[in-house]
Amino acid sequence: MNTKTQLAIVILAAGKGTRMKSDMPKVMHPLAGKPMINWLLETCESLNPDKIITVIGPDMAELAKAVAPHETATQEVRNGTGGAVKAALSELEGFDGKVLILMGDEPLVKKEALEELLNADNIAVQGFVTDTPHGLGRMIVNEDGSLKEIIEDKDCDAEQRKINLCNAGNYCIPSSSLAGWIGQINDDNAQGEFYLTDLPAIAAKEGVKTQVVQTRWHGAWGVNDRIQLAEHEAKAQEILRANIMQDGVTMIDPSCVTLHHDTKIGKGSTIEPNVIFGADVQIGENVTIRGFSHIEGATIENGASIGPFARLRPETKISENVRIGNFVEVKKSTIGKGSKINHLAYVGDTKMGTEVNFSCGAITVNYDGFNKHKTSIGNNVMVGSNVSLVAPIEIGDGAFLAAGSTITRSINPDALAVERIDPDIKEGWAAKYRKIKAAAKKS
Ligand code: UD1
Ligand code: MG
Repeated sequence: MNTKTQLAIVILAAGKGTRMKSDMPKVMHPLAGKPMINWLLETCESLNPDKIITVIGPDMAELAKAVAPHETATQEVRNGTGGAVKAALSELEGFDGKVLILMGDEPLVKKEALEELLNADNIAVQGFVTDTPHGLGRMIVNEDGSLKEIIEDKDCDAEQRKINLCNAGNYCIPSSSLAGWIGQINDDNAQGEFYLTDLPAIAAKEGVKTQVVQTRWHGAWGVNDRIQLAEHEAKAQEILRANIMQDGVTMIDPSCVTLHHDTKIGKGSTIEPNVIFGADVQIGENVTIRGFSHIEGATIENGASIGPFARLRPETKISENVRIGNFVEVKKSTIGKGSKINHLAYVGDTKMGTEVNFSCGAITVNYDGFNKHKTSIGNNVMVGSNVSLVAPIEIGDGAFLAAGSTITRSINPDALAVERIDPDIKEGWAAKYRKIKAAAKKS
């Protein structure tokens, strides 16, 4: 027989998010590139619940997709957090166990804090102490420390507003009591909404005490506007950076490294200040990413050095010990082992071999205004400064492309290619020119 207490999690995410002034459901706004709701879902999944139900609005198909395969319940009229839980009740029919009710706009709530809530006997609510309680529900506690009631900021009098123990918004309630208590919530308050926060006072009327589970973590304040979104982004970045540094990566000034939620960096690597990672970046070991580089959709192998001021764009593979220097852009290209693109270059739609030197100012000309074309460069090729490789083009192993050439044809291995017009040099011309100009100025 399975004696484990069943667990259902209800995430409230149907709110319009008016304060965000956004066309997108609030919980779809990303932190480090991942929608808030998915941060929360992952934490929920780590608790191994029997079901997760997300309450969404009638116009939130995108959100339903983001939480799939978990189920959703639709709150037809957005009449408050109490109304949202009511909308989920039909999905909880026949369920017997604990129900964890979470605010969808608190994506960074810690697993440990939720576990503490789950350990409570009756009804428990997560609280935290903050110096900036503005906008949050205040928790009024009894002498024995149990929760008397929660008063929303807008309903507080001046004295109550000074209370700094705030409602973090997450609750654990036995399913046997939930429907009955929710049924007693009314909308007699400043906002005319059905407040979930009325539950503790309703439970108290039945003699059931509510436990306050104080979280030590001061991040569970919720995202209501773009300022709080930025605060959560900062927190998410801190979490991601800490994980990466714990894996053996050095960050000289972590506060100015921006990670994507899926950034992977191998041990022994160093990330200098002001580096931005976009989606889908995988970096091997002992790689150096120098300052002000912007990297997305790139795989970088062991020992490579990138930047400063480099830009790596999607579908780029940088092999072992490659050097990409300042003001170099690489897009949709593979750069073979040990090759060097050290300064001011553009490489796009290219397959480059090993030990190539791609000099200052050289570029692949991959776009004719209509289509993109491919460049293939063999091993040990010397591409001189300011060479333009007009694609489609193939350069054989060991070829030497002279500086300033516009290479318009494929070049055989070990050939020298010089494609410049013949020089037109007039000895002494400049001196004569200066003399004429000087005389003209005097007269
Ligand atoms: C809520 C709490 C407040 C607490 C704060 C913590 C209430 C009444 N207030 O306030 O005590 O301090 O969270 O962050 O519960 N939602 C719905 N349907 C609705 C309204 C809201 O699903 O009709 C969802 C929202 O999408 C959101 C969550 O519930 O994810 C919280 O709603 P929000 O409007 O952000 O409540 P707060 O004002 O932050
Ligand atoms: Mg909120």
